[in-house]
Amino acid sequence: MRCSIGEYMIRDWKRDDASSLAQYANNRKIWSNLRDAFPHPYTKEDAALYIARSLQKVPRTAFAIATKTEAIGSIGLMPGQDVHRFTAELGYWLGEPFWGRGIMTEAVKALSEYAFNGLGFRRIFAEPYATNLASARVLEKSGFLREGILRANVVKEDRTLDQFLYAKIK
Ligand SMILES: CC(C)(COP(=O)(O)OP(=O)(O)OC[C@H]1O[C@@H](n2cnc3c(N)ncnc32)[C@H](O)[C@@H]1OP(=O)(O)O)[C@@H](O)C(=O)NCCC(=O)NCCS
Repeated sequence: MRCSIGEYMIRDWKRDDASSLAQYANNRKIWSNLRDAFPHPYTKEDAALYIARSLQKVPRTAFAIATKTEAIGSIGLMPGQDVHRFTAELGYWLGEPFWGRGIMTEAVKALSEYAFNGLGFRRIFAEPYATNLASARVLEKSGFLREGILRANVVKEDRTLDQFLYAKIK
């Protein structure tokens, strides 16, 4: 998969993205907004393992957000199972030097389009922590609807947090 978003692109991971992936992912401000399964600190070995696993997935659902020279972020889908097999959860993060340029909004729009029309999903959802107003804004600008608030659904850094439930359907 390869898709231009202005001067950036969404593309398959490459094994030699491990250095730039580790460089940008190793950021507590990013980890604070993601699951604990996202490593912190984030090493080059973590990056290599993540890339190897992403390349094994069929169909491919995990992608790099990249400049012409390096990976600067990540965006992917986690398909549901059984009766949820046409639904996928969307996850993403971007290297901090690139925040605030509209990159993730364009990436979320493009990946949603691919999820519906390339991969056949019928519903895409995301569950940002209710403290994550930047991510909520990205989803709203990308045409997702806030369907509800999942109260006290997360414990992150010893804090109990609500999550917003956002979804877009085909
Ligand atoms: C959330 C994240 C992906 C946003 O990426 P980005 O490329 O900077 O997003 P965009 O520039 O497309 O849009 C960000 C929007 O949020 C707004 N925003 C940023 N910080 C905000 C805040 N503290 N409160 C309210 N709005 C905020 C921006 O003003 C912008 O909206 P606007 O265009 O209406 O001005 C990035 O900050 C990130 O990787 N954060 C850490 C990981 C993460 O949160 N992942 C998502 C988990 S659900």
